Formats: sequence, structure tokens, C-alpha cells
Amino acid sequence: MPRINSPAELEALRKEILSKRDPDKPCITLCSGTACHATGSEKVAAAIEQEIEKQGLQTEVDFRRTGCHGFCEKGPIVVIYPEEICYLQVKPEDIPEITSQTLKEKKTVDRLLYVDPTTGEKATHESDIPFYKNQERIVFGPNRKIDPKSIEDYLAIGGYQALAKALLEMTPEQVIQEVKTANLRGRGGAGFPAGIKWEAARNAPGEPKYVIVNCDEGDPGAYMDRSLMEGNPYSVLEGLVIGAYAIGSHEGFVYVRQEYPLAVANLGIAIKQAEEYGLLGRDILGSGFDFKVTVHRGAGAFVCGEETALLMSLEGKPGEPRPRPPYPAVKGLWGKPTNINNVETWANIPLIIKKGADFLTSIGTEGSKGTKIFSLVGKVNNTGLVEVPMGITLRDIIYKVGGGIPGGKKFKAVQTGGPSGGCIPEEHLDIKVDFDELAKVGAIMGSGGMIVMDEDTCMVDVARYFLDFLSDESCGKCSPCREGIRQMLKILTNITEGKGKEGDIELLEELAVSTGNASLCALGRTAPNPVLSTIRYFRDEYEAHIKDKRCPAFVCKQLISYYIDPDKCKACMICLRNCPAEAIIGGKNLIHVIDQEKCTKCGTCFEVCPDRFGAVTRLSGEPVPPAIPEEARIIARKSKTHG
Ligand SMILES: Cc1cc2nc3c(=O)[nH]c(=O)nc-3n(C[C@H](O)[C@H](O)[C@H](O)COP(=O)(O)O)c2cc1C
Ligand code: FES
Repeated sequence: MPRINSPAELEALRKEILSKRDPDKPCITLCSGTACHATGSEKVAAAIEQEIEKQGLQTEVDFRRTGCHGFCEKGPIVVIYPEEICYLQVKPEDIPEITSQTLKEKKTVDRLLYVDPTTGEKATHESDIPFYKNQERIVFGPNRKIDPKSIEDYLAIGGYQALAKALLEMTPEQVIQEVKTANLRGRGGAGFPAGIKWEAARNAPGEPKYVIVNCDEGDPGAYMDRSLMEGNPYSVLEGLVIGAYAIGSHEGFVYVRQEYPLAVANLGIAIKQAEEYGLLGRDILGSGFDFKVTVHRGAGAFVCGEETALLMSLEGKPGEPRPRPPYPAVKGLWGKPTNINNVETWANIPLIIKKGADFLTSIGTEGSKGTKIFSLVGKVNNTGLVEVPMGITLRDIIYKVGGGIPGGKKFKAVQTGGPSGGCIPEEHLDIKVDFDELAKVGAIMGSGGMIVMDEDTCMVDVARYFLDFLSDESCGKCSPCREGIRQMLKILTNITEGKGKEGDIELLEELAVSTGNASLCALGRTAPNPVLSTIRYFRDEYEAHIKDKRCPAFVCKQLISYYIDPDKCKACMICLRNCPAEAIIGGKNLIHVIDQEKCTKCGTCFEVCPDRFGAVTRLSGEPVPPAIPEEARIIARKSKTHG
């Protein structure tokens, strides 16, 4: 690879790459992100390569593997350019038809198009699919256009132009000012303005200074940072070098969690390629600026995403937080000024420098500019990664992008902000999603987890579930967090097991406030959010559990029973055969009865009992009626006549 020694050479290389690419030439792209990989994209890739050769299209068609497109549940995803025809859930056996019909004949294969579950309408182009139509993919968008293993693809779409501009046309102070004007707030949780943090690190005494990418991402269900790192590591690295230049740092680290092998692999390739082109290392782009970066694999503890714990871990010590101040900007890695930003924060930087701060400030709300990537999961039709403008309503994310709640069920709550986020009820679905508005309703933006819950969710159990996670992940260094979370979890567990007492709600509130106020780091300080928000909006559910020993959502096993109504049971044997605990007694002519001692409350009988009978019912807060005597359970069936 030739070294690029100036912005002019960078532009010349970009033009050379583009001159070899015919924009009208058909290009079949295949998502090779982790989710599509898990659903078989490698076999699809092999089929594409084989079919292109078999049908003699090697010179007429390009094939590119890309990063995650976001609509992971519909993978493997194939998009054919220049028309942008999008096929979902593609299998290897679909490839001969795609090749002969779409690549050769320019016809669509209708059965592989997206079908709107409500209208039945098909969408031919990716941008016509409602999931994508209502997004604004300024940061995540390039994922679908580039091969994450090809720096040339990134250069072709204007990659590294922002770095050239920063290094050769701007002073470090001007770069910081641009980021401040853009009012870019950190995407990793707290929403602190990046420009202000950079300035503090630049002005802090001490050398050397360090810059760090936080790609720990320990929130259950969240994978925004992984997918950005897997699909477009170049944008993160470009942002990092720009930040390093602004802060006056010549050494950086990418802290990636251990469980992200593809992100680590693609990042390693991107670093190597950037070094070969002179976009990392000594005298970057002939500017005289040197910068080297090292990848560090985290050990997989949630708390290691907290910046001071991350620093300890990087230094080779146990990943435990330490009090702040001093903030890392002043005293960070090995006691030196250090700037830590989240993956998505860094990936926003090239956009701000290349297009100007106005580009970002033209999107979003007064206090939160730009877009945010969310991992939209749970009881919602379209799950996946979504990038939306700040200020969009929760309702639009859930119903327009997410396609609403499956199975005609009712929406109950949405939890934003990861395990220590808050649960937001229906009445607040029209709030604008930004850092400040979410805080007003007792939730947080966090790093972008968004879990949708329907009417079948028990909100007390949800609080218990998240506290269970946080109790496991609390490092135990400070007692308010260690003990406070453990005690709240104990009370919540008791409530869900029917052992709740009068006064438990008030005790939970008191513990939540003191844990939040006294904990050392934001793990303990935000841990009360799931408890306080569920008490605030779903207090009636807590009261039902405590006073009536009733779980209104029929989730808490100790508070529910299954019962077969003898008047409705037709002795069809379906529940009896399916019960994994063999807890159902009956026969072909004998009305079935559940042995309550053996029943594990798995709900299989309720699910399999045919709708036309509806004989299995769920009970909560009321006793199970006594079983009728065996002689009364015999059903007289008409005997079959044989002719
Ligand atoms: C328990 C805990 C876990 C965290 N995990 C992450 C994480 O995985 N990624 C991240 O960027 N920030 C995480 N943070 C926030 C970081 O401490 C820090 O605020 C962030 O990396 C700063 O980057 P930003 O300003 O770009 O958001 C976590 C915080 C806490 C308290
Ligand atoms: S991994 Fe393919 S769409 Fe997400």
C-alpha cells in the first residue's frame, strides 16, 4: 500500500479508487454482522461466489460483505445496488434465482421482499421499509455501504477527509471549539459534552496524555457499539485520531469487551491498513502528528465500562471504580490526563469536522443534538439497531420504527438506559427522546438500550430482574452499592414470592434513595432507577403482590396457579401429553386435573389447550377450586361405528 503523505494524495487516492468503480455496475451486498453470521450469512456468501462464477458474471457483478444493517432479526440481509433492492432472510438456495432474476434480468424476487405485517404491502427498496424509513442513519448508515475489512471502501465514501482537514487546516483549539459548538454529548451514558471534556484534558498539566475508546458495552441486550465497531471501525479510529490531535495525545487505547471477537478482528485489520497508508503511526498525512493505538480486551465485567474502573483494568488491576474528582481528564491512566469517550461519540467526530458543527446542530433538540443509536428489543415487532434523531418521540420509535407490539397485545412500558434505566409507561410515550426529557420521567438515555414490554410483563419482576443483574455486577468495593442493591433485591424477591409485607414499598423507596445518594460510582447511583420508576408508575402492581398476593400479569410463579375447568375440559389429552412435569392426571374419557404439588407453573397447558375449549385458566390471588371426585370426571363418549 502506498503511504499517503498529504491531503492532496488522499484525494488523489480516493479518485483513483472511484475511477475503478462503475456506480452503475450491479453490486450484491451481504450483511456479515454477528447476527446475520449466526443466521447463516457465510453459507449465503459461498453460494453468491459460486453462482456468480457459474452464471459467468465475474466481470459484470461486484460482491461485497458489509457490516450490520440494523434489521438483525430479518437476516441474512442482501441488498443489490444501484437499485437498492433489499432481500430478507435469504438462504443459500435463493441465490441462483437472485442471480438469474435480479442481477441478470433486473427483476425482483417478490417472495424475498419485506412484507408489512399490518398492510400486507411489499417494499422493494431498503429505504421503503418502515423500519428504515423513519430513521436517520448518519453514523450507522455507512455500515451497509462498506466492507469493514476494506479501508478503500471507507476512503471511497470520503473517509479520512475529516482527519486531513483537522490535522492540516485546523488548530487543536479550533477542533475543540467545533466539537463544543456541535454540543456533542457523550453517547456512553452520562451525556457529558465531549468538547468540554476534551478541553479539560488538553489544559490539564502532565504528559503523556491518553485517549481511550470505551467499547465495553456490558448492558444486557445492547449491541450498538459492537455493531459500529464491527461494521465501520474506520470511523471510530478517525474520530479517535482527531480527538488525540485536539487534546495533544500521541497514544490511545481501544477497550473492547472480551466477548466481541468480530469487533476485535475487524478493528485489528482497520488499524493495520490505516498504519500502512500512514493514517496512523508517525507523521500522519505528512502533518508531523504521531499517534499509535493499542487494542485491549476487557475481562467481561459490567462495571469495567465505568470509566475509572476501566482505567484500573487497563492498568492491569482489578476493575473497581475510584472516587471522582480527580476526573480522568486530570488524573487518568497511570495518573496522566486521559480522555475517555464511547464508541458512538468518537464515530460522530468525523461528521462534525467534515460537515461542520451546524450539520449536527441542525438535528435534534435544544439540549441534545444529532442522533442516537438504540438497541430496540423486547415485545416489539421490528427488533434491531435503530438510529433516530434526538427529539423523536418514544411512540414513533416503538410504533413507526418498531412496528408496534406483536400479537395485538397492549403496550405496558419501555425501559431505556440499560439495566439501571427507568421504566416509562404509556402516558409518557409522547415525550421527546433526549438526555433531559428522559431524566424528567425517571429514566436515562444510558448508552442506548431500549426494551419494550407488553401487558404480559410483571413490573415488580422486571425491577427484581434488573436488580439481580446489578447485584451480581456490583464490584462490592463500596457498601452502599453492595448492600443497598442486595437488600432491595431481597425485598423485591420476597414480594414476587408472595412474602411481601406492609411497608415494603416505603422501605424500598428509602433504600433506593440512600443507595443512589451514597454509592461510589454510577452503577450504585443509578441502580435505584428500575425500582423507583416501577413504584412511581406501577404502584398498584406492587400493592396487588403485597396485599392480595396477586400477580396481575401472571408472571410470578409463587403467586399463580393453573386450573382446568371441569365444565370446559373435553379430555382431549393435549395438555396431559405436553405437560413436561407430568402433573396432569386424566384419560381419554376422564376430565383432566392438575396435580398442584407437581405443577411447575410453566404455563404449557395454558398455551396448548385449544382456543375452542379454553379449559385451562390462570388464577392469582384466589384459591384453586377443589378437584371434583373421579366418578364425576368420566366423560361418556359416543362409540365409533364401523361399517
Ligand atoms: C456501571 C457502568 C457501566 C458503564 N459502561 C459503559 C460502557 O460500556 N460504554 C461506555 O461508553 N460507557 C459506559 N459507562 C459510562 C462511562 O463511565 C463514561 O461515562 C463514558 O465512557 C464516557 O464516554 P462518553 O462521554 O462518550 O459517553 C458506564 C458507566 C457505569 C457506571
Ligand atoms: S447483523 Fe445483519 S442486520 Fe444486523
